[in-house]
Amino acid sequence: MIRENPVILAMETSLDETCAAVTVGRRVLSNVVSSQVELHRKYGGVVPIVAKRAHEERINAVLSESIKRATIAAKRNLSVEIEQHVLSKFNRLRDGGKLDVEDMDSIAVTYGPGQALALEVGIDKAKELSKKYDKPLIAVDHMEGHLLAPFAQNSRGRGSAFVEIPECNGGFPLIGLLISGGHTQLVLVKGIGDYKILGETLDDAAGEAFDKVGRMLGLGYPGGPVVEEIAKNGDEDAFNLPVPMEGKGKLNFSYSGIKTAVLYKTRELKKKNSWNRETIQNLAASFQRVMAQSLTIKLEAAVKEYNVNGVLLGGGVISNIYIRRKIRQNMREYGLKVYIPYDDRMFTDNAAMIGISAYFKARRNEFVKNVDSLDRNPNAKLD
Ligand code: KG4
Ligand code: ZN
Repeated sequence: MIRENPVILAMETSLDETCAAVTVGRRVLSNVVSSQVELHRKYGGVVPIVAKRAHEERINAVLSESIKRATIAAKRNLSVEIEQHVLSKFNRLRDGGKLDVEDMDSIAVTYGPGQALALEVGIDKAKELSKKYDKPLIAVDHMEGHLLAPFAQNSRGRGSAFVEIPECNGGFPLIGLLISGGHTQLVLVKGIGDYKILGETLDDAAGEAFDKVGRMLGLGYPGGPVVEEIAKNGDEDAFNLPVPMEGKGKLNFSYSGIKTAVLYKTRELKKKNSWNRETIQNLAASFQRVMAQSLTIKLEAAVKEYNVNGVLLGGGVISNIYIRRKIRQNMREYGLKVYIPYDDRMFTDNAAMIGISAYFKARRNEFVKNVDSLDRNPNAKLD
């Protein structure tokens, strides 16, 4: 029998963040992320073998920490109306007990897309725990995690502070815009688990463009947060950069051209001896503007073509407040609400989004049939 609100221990190691979380239904009890950004910074990008070793070194500690924090959250919220079976589990916490893997109803893990070597670490650990504790295993697509993250609630059962998330069975179809370091996708969400990719990037992902431009501007890695920061003091109309894929490519994206355009601009400025703080800020602001324009143009085209009830945003690039504001402004013209996760730590890679997606899979009875045969899929696709 499937529990109404299963307690799930979720893991995510698809790239450079070692993550574990405990969720109860849509509620997030803990969400621990051990970032490897410092390790990869000197290489200017993620090095798979370095990521694999770091995941191996950290995964046990991250798992323990997620269970420890879940215990604290559960104790704080024992009075909150919660499923009977969860309560019985957590009742002994009152007497100083701790949650452990034994208390979980399921183990969940990302199986792809991502770096093969990195994915393997989470999958191996999930298999080990599933077998050792005899818990059913749920395999989750990383992009579905980003897509469903807006459905998450905090440990008290509250969702995003800004929006009412449509109930799981109503409110569809929605459009999902997923913008991360590895992917840029428009997804028609006909229902949970029922997706169609409407468009995606033909080359670089949006986050990748931010990372590359960050490097060109001498701002380091990852580029997204630093480009956003210095763009605040720049003039977004200072440079006339091309808006990526404007008026072409249907619902697909392309970000290799803008990268080249920024590169030429940096060369030109350096040649003219105009490479200074002000021009760097202006270039960052102009780049961010055309990135936002390209994303809103494609999203707008999609909502014009498909009759949807709202927009789900996911992936690291939605951390960008300027981009979120431009998307919201644009969608308001169509009377569409834009849904984002309640916690900004759920924009970038994390395991809570994997736990939430696993919960919806458990409701559909989608467990891994043969634990030993679960394999990574670095190129997994949502549809
Ligand atoms: O979803 P995510 O954590 O990892 C992937 O699955 O790829 O996304 C990481 C990406 C990086 O490329 C990073 O530069 C970008 O998200 N990012 C941002 C911002 N914060 C993170 N891009 C633009 N503005 C930001 N504030
Ligand atoms: Zn991601």
